[in-house]
Amino acid sequence: MSGHILAIDQGTTSSRAIIFDPRMRIASSAQTEITQHFPQTGWVEHDANEIWDTVLSTARDAVSKSGLAPAAVAAIGITNQRETTVVWERATGRPLHKAIVWQDRRTAEMCDRLKVDGYEKLFTAKTGLLLDPYFSGTKLRWLLDNVEGLRGRAEAGEVCFGTIDSWIIYKLTGGRMHVTDATNASRTLLYNIAENRWDDELLEILRIPRALLPEVKDSADDFGTVDPDIFGADIPILGVAGDQQAATIGNACFEPGMVKSTYGTGCFALLNTGDDRVHSKNRLLSTIAYRLNGKTTYALEGSIFIAGAAVQWLRDGLGIIERASETGALADRADPQQRVYVVPAFTGLGAPYWDPEARGAIFGLTRNSGPAELARAVLESVAYQTLDLLVAMRSDWGDHPIETVLRVDGGMSASEWTMQHLANILSSPVDRAATLETTALGAAWLAGSKAGVWPGQDDFARAWASDRSFEPDMTDIDRQARIVGWRNAIARTLSTVT
Ligand code: G3P
Repeated sequence: MSGHILAIDQGTTSSRAIIFDPRMRIASSAQTEITQHFPQTGWVEHDANEIWDTVLSTARDAVSKSGLAPAAVAAIGITNQRETTVVWERATGRPLHKAIVWQDRRTAEMCDRLKVDGYEKLFTAKTGLLLDPYFSGTKLRWLLDNVEGLRGRAEAGEVCFGTIDSWIIYKLTGGRMHVTDATNASRTLLYNIAENRWDDELLEILRIPRALLPEVKDSADDFGTVDPDIFGADIPILGVAGDQQAATIGNACFEPGMVKSTYGTGCFALLNTGDDRVHSKNRLLSTIAYRLNGKTTYALEGSIFIAGAAVQWLRDGLGIIERASETGALADRADPQQRVYVVPAFTGLGAPYWDPEARGAIFGLTRNSGPAELARAVLESVAYQTLDLLVAMRSDWGDHPIETVLRVDGGMSASEWTMQHLANILSSPVDRAATLETTALGAAWLAGSKAGVWPGQDDFARAWASDRSFEPDMTDIDRQARIVGWRNAIARTLSTVT
């Protein structure tokens, strides 16, 4: 059998499809942006049908560009934006509302009420997560409370809930499979990550009928076969993981202590903690890194909502750059004497602060401050936020050796300026993955290894390569002074301080 694998990477801003060849190199790819809907301040929605249409068209495009007959694709791996919540009619596949995106903050008050009622400890103990609007559980509850007739139909078993992976699999299999994998389930606020099951007590608190939920499988598993009408061939779906977990796999962070950080819209750092499901004291998340052959590997995760999105703000909001790739050169022209800080809390602050009410702030402006200083402060904010996560990880998992090298990937890791500053602020080396398509590679590896056409875990890990290693070159005094400035800026941004 050929070792070509189709990876579907459905992200927050676009749907992408990549064909990897038997040597795990990219043979072809296609990408289409998806529409962002902002019906109210703080609300973010996607059209589930548009997601499906773009997944299908990009997948077909990638297959046709590769010159392969569809039957030559050995398997499909899926990776996806996590937490985004879809409900659809089981019998027809008709979405019953727009998908509520992970960034959506509409359930902030619901989360506050649950906290006041004393539920956060219980949710954290069972799911590893916090009561924040980020996760699917309260979004699903909002849909049940606000879409007319939904609750009754859900109780009658007529409705499916799923994260984006479930939705794509349902559509790919012609409605035959309603399934998800353990990594995606671990982001819903409904899944007990220690016992690997949907948790009845949490479902009851959130008043979510069990009949809505998909079956949870391993990350490399049999997720069904694609309806032959779609590609004209029976291709099996054998790998599924949420995008940050897929990037952890694609970066071959299989050993406890290994850390990766992916820079896209946001930034997500995951530390592999092996069998150890850590109870964070620093408001990091405990999550499932992957589940293979029934064995769960855990991770500590730090999630930052705004990284590359702050560069988009420089471009689209301020208009001081035309292309994201210009930011480094502009930052280089900044006056080194000025200490300007941008705290990009545009949608609140994620880990380790979890302050949904905080908003973006700029500190240290003088009459000489201009576009270059702002560009520099935006790129620097990515490094400072990553430092905050790694400090929290060290403190949570302090008794264990944590790799000093950080593996990085994602669109923004292409910025040499940002990666060098990151190494400087962390005071440790940063290894950039040779393939920036690490997320798709992780999903492809799950499917390819399950199909038996790609190497096993150890060989895959040995094949991982970096294209460049960034070594720190900043004095300790300089570094410490900058970090103190950042901490001060954060303290003045948190909503509880004002
Ligand atoms: O948790 C949200 C994350 O999965 C979204 O990732 O790359 O689509 O911004 P991305």
